[in-house]
Amino acid sequence: MKIGMFGDVIGRPGRSALISFLKGRDYDFVVANAENAAGGFGLTENTASQLLEAGVNVITSGNHIWQHKEVLDYIDRVDSPVLRPANYPPGNPGRGFIVMKHQGIRIMVINIQGRLFIPMALDCPFRTVDNILRNNSADVIIVDMHAEATSEKQAFARHLDGKVTIVAGTHTHVLTADARVLPGGTVCITDLGMCGSMSGVIGMATEEARIRFITGRHIRLKVADGDTYVNGLEVMLDSNLNFESLSLINEKS
Ligand SMILES: [Fe+2]
Ligand SMILES: [Fe+2]
Repeated sequence: MKIGMFGDVIGRPGRSALISFLKGRDYDFVVANAENAAGGFGLTENTASQLLEAGVNVITSGNHIWQHKEVLDYIDRVDSPVLRPANYPPGNPGRGFIVMKHQGIRIMVINIQGRLFIPMALDCPFRTVDNILRNNSADVIIVDMHAEATSEKQAFARHLDGKVTIVAGTHTHVLTADARVLPGGTVCITDLGMCGSMSGVIGMATEEARIRFITGRHIRLKVADGDTYVNGLEVMLDSNLNFESLSLINEKS
């Protein structure tokens, strides 16, 4: 089984890059984080549909998921395989994990958000994922840990070692070179990077990002364009669904 996981899809350049990358590829299952897919922040039904039609099986997200109001209704629909972090407090629309049967295999995808350096009153990521795993099972379990801090993501992966198939970090938009298999058999990577333009600052145009840091003012960012890459991780599982091989995806589109 060949699984493709892709980092945050940033605006139109990111969507186009991932959509053309997936053409002709033979992934059995694809997970992409699309919290930045619509205009650089958030997700809409239209942008989600483009990715799903291109071969993405499950869309994960993170702190920018609520940017566009229409997502509140869309994400709440039972038939949309679009996740928001599971540790948002009760009362939020949507769901934080999904279990689906795919090619005869039960696959669970879980989306969690970290709390370090992301100032939000979220429930504990560790207790949340423990609770999900206590009450649900699957043959393959894929976790998107959307977090800022490397330490929190690595601690989270260690916590889940031997209990899930893959723990992949997202949110920093920079692909990390630490993909590996932990002693318990869980594949992990600190961050999947992004599908988007490398011409700016983590997918956003340079000038506004630069001025924002210099002035300390909240200046509206624009999606960067050109020099577009697809970042992610490819994981092969053998016929027993055990780890076989992995490779980083860092392809210029
Ligand atoms: Fe992001
Ligand atoms: Fe994020």
